[in-house]
Amino acid sequence: MSVITVIGAGSWGSGLSLLLSDNNHEVKVYDLDQGLITEINTKHTNERYLPGAKLPSNIVGYIDLEEALKDSEVVLTVVPTKVMRQALKNINQALDHQVIFVNASKGIEPTTFKRVSEIVFEEIDATKIKGFVALTGPSHAEEVIKRQLTVVSASSDNLELAKKVQLIFNNDEYFRVYTLNDLIGAELGSSLKNIIALASGILAGLGYGDNAKAALITRGLAEMRRLAIKVGAKEATLYGLTGIGDLIVTATSLHSRNYQAGLKIGSGKNLKETLASMTMVVEGVRSCEAAYQLATSLNIEMPITFAVYDVIFNEREPKEVIKELMQRTLKHE
Ligand SMILES: NC(=O)c1ccc[n+]([C@@H]2O[C@H](COP(=O)([O-])OP(=O)(O)OC[C@H]3O[C@@H](n4cnc5c(N)ncnc54)[C@H](O)[C@@H]3O)[C@@H](O)[C@H]2O)c1
Repeated sequence: MSVITVIGAGSWGSGLSLLLSDNNHEVKVYDLDQGLITEINTKHTNERYLPGAKLPSNIVGYIDLEEALKDSEVVLTVVPTKVMRQALKNINQALDHQVIFVNASKGIEPTTFKRVSEIVFEEIDATKIKGFVALTGPSHAEEVIKRQLTVVSASSDNLELAKKVQLIFNNDEYFRVYTLNDLIGAELGSSLKNIIALASGILAGLGYGDNAKAALITRGLAEMRRLAIKVGAKEATLYGLTGIGDLIVTATSLHSRNYQAGLKIGSGKNLKETLASMTMVVEGVRSCEAAYQLATSLNIEMPITFAVYDVIFNEREPKEVIKELMQRTLKHE
């Protein structure tokens, strides 16, 4: 049994807390939202993010970060990537011992193009980090909270540490964890797929069908692979759980908020209206900005990502952008 501090009690933080409690760990959940923490401690529910779900009563919520980190062996970060750096600065101040960092958030920091592992090593004192593991793969909180079958991977540059985290999170009944030693591939794969999920929702919102969706997923994977390999990912990772696996689930499921956001944009709502109407974080928007900047700086061809960028940030008509994609110079697959 380990003592685990979960940073962020939203949908995924709560889903993973239930799993960790099922695995007999001591689970301490920290969130800035005082009302949510009170709800978790008194009603054992999370109505805003996981309506109808019941959380185990031994999950304890904290609003005091020092208390939440006391005796902790593993710190699991599950906050939106845009607040990750600030959350880590706060953790560094409050933490007084060495822990394993596990991250389950998916996204790239705009402007810096940094992956979460890079931000962790920048913001946390070296003496306080035993190592870093990314927990990624096709996983919707809405299914994990119902203990439905889910398979993910634990990736680290340190395979021994990945194996340790695999044992902590693996559950023989419903949550299987593979190890992987390609952190770049895992972190990029799980972030870039959210852009393709936005595109998939836009296509559906416009009324296009399964042919378009299958083509989008296939060509989306091709450009994710181009960028990821250029920055050091292993090709096999893109064809694994954290690449194609996560891409399929995000680009086809109604549970995906990136897909849902795309659906609204495709149906004619603009970005501001769309984001304002979403209860939960839409990581694809920021990852699209980061991927667009990174691909431009590295001169990597990513037509779908650039098209999504045009729709979201230049407010171009999706139909017009799709027409341009279809009229690109013909080429060999
Ligand atoms: N929801 C899923 O099914 C799922 C699955 C896999 C990965 N993810 C990833 O996990 C991350 C979080 O997603 P989510 O769906 O749980 O988001 P969410 O919007 O449901 O919840 C985010 C939570 O973080 C809290 N928070 C914000 N800033 C904080 C801070 N500085 N310190 C502590 N808590 C803070 C918020 O109050 C909120 O409770 C995202 O990167 C997402 O892509 C989500």
